[in-house]
Amino acid sequence: MKFFIDTANLDEIKEAKELGILDGVTTNPSLVAKENVDFHERIRQIAAVVPGSVSAEVIALDAENMIKEGKELAAISENITVKVPMTVDGLKAVHAFSELGIKTNVTLIFSVPQALLAARAGATYVSPFLGRLDDIGHDGLQLISDLKTIFDTHGLPTQIIAASVRHPIHVNEAAKRGAHIATIPLKVIKQLTLHPLTDKGIEAFLADWNK
Ligand code: E4P
Repeated sequence: MKFFIDTANLDEIKEAKELGILDGVTTNPSLVAKENVDFHERIRQIAAVVPGSVSAEVIALDAENMIKEGKELAAISENITVKVPMTVDGLKAVHAFSELGIKTNVTLIFSVPQALLAARAGATYVSPFLGRLDDIGHDGLQLISDLKTIFDTHGLPTQIIAASVRHPIHVNEAAKRGAHIATIPLKVIKQLTLHPLTDKGIEAFLADWNK
């Protein structure tokens, strides 16, 4: 399973890159708004730092304007993936982008039929939102398992990005269930490095060394 970072913060992206585990970046309008910067300029900066897929989301809700915005985003750099919300117009836009050879990430996926439609429309990636499903008492991880089985059964090449990741168990389980990618906030990436026995072991080694 590959690791993407879920942020529009350049320092966080650079920090994750230094760990040598970073395969890509996802952003969304809320994450970009927090940064208080020019959207296209920030996407350009991120794409210059990370050679892998950088998801940048369209704001328009109608297919025509989604396609217009997506083409402008895709022109920023060849590693841009256009992020499109899961709607009827979103599917039309994904279909158009796939004919143009522009990569897409269909976001706000909460069910198998949504993901199946996105895959059939030609999505490069689908992003099921684990944490937000868990928040309303649904099983986000079960969706990952179902999508993996269904995409494999039907030979669909669309990759599954486990999104809305809130804690290390989401990452562990997403990997076990066959998600191709997990997009993770830096805080959770750092949590993945931790184990109390590691800390205890380091402490004991240093204490012995100093004796
Ligand atoms: C994914 O691409 C989204 O940006 C993100 O994972 C949403 O996470 P949240 O539910 O924590 O906002």
